[in-house]
Amino acid sequence: MKLLVIANWKMNPLTEKEVKRLFTSIKKGLKGRKNIEIVICPPFPYLSIINNLLSSIKLGAQDCFWKDKGPYTGEVSPQMLENIGCKYVIVGHSERRETFKETDEMVNIKIKEILKAKLQPIFCIGETEEEKKAGKTFHVLEREIKKGLDKISKKEIEKVIIAYEPIWAIGTKKACEENEVMTVALFIKKLVSRLYNKKVASNIKIIYGGSVDSKNASDYLRESKMQGLLVGGASLNSKEFIKIIKSLNNIKTYLR
Ligand code: PGA
Repeated sequence: MKLLVIANWKMNPLTEKEVKRLFTSIKKGLKGRKNIEIVICPPFPYLSIINNLLSSIKLGAQDCFWKDKGPYTGEVSPQMLENIGCKYVIVGHSERRETFKETDEMVNIKIKEILKAKLQPIFCIGETEEEKKAGKTFHVLEREIKKGLDKISKKEIEKVIIAYEPIWAIGTKKACEENEVMTVALFIKKLVSRLYNKKVASNIKIIYGGSVDSKNASDYLRESKMQGLLVGGASLNSKEFIKIIKSLNNIKTYLR
């Protein structure tokens, strides 16, 4: 199983020139690296620009709607994303749940449609600081997983990547302790095993996101045995992002 590192550029950078500069420098710095699946998720207007700069780096989107086409002003469909070369779509990111009031039910429909379009959903879950303090972490994660994966078959779940992103760790430089991440990973696997079966649970890919940088990246994969990382802020700095990928060079042996 290949490690997965996803760059979530969020609503950055501001100009096409900066996009080209950032992507080209990441591409150059990571040339020939085949042991890690690297995915860049830029804002929608930059997807085709990056796709045209051809490389082994895969393309992902940060969100999508659940219809193929039609009168849905402002929306982008999974099918459109597939047609322009995307392989992955982030879904249910806490910033969308919070700012755009996306519900577990909406996330569930999106996941189904992403799978139908033959794309891989990166399904984000995570608790707020208040929920953590109130001891509700597992309760929240269980609700998000059960509702988010409702009526998704055993076959389909193979393509779903679960991204554990504690909300209090996003963009705060307060990264989550590796042992906490490991406990969550085990909890997710147990739950998936209950909802599906042991085989599905052992194969499911779980990744971590939240203030990942070049100093802590390898610890997450080594100590908490995650299969990848979702990197926000640090992926906008090509040197730092390249450093993160290079720091994962010898991790492969820790994976199943
Ligand atoms: P961060 O963001 O790395 O800046 O904390 C991660 C994310 O929101 O995906």
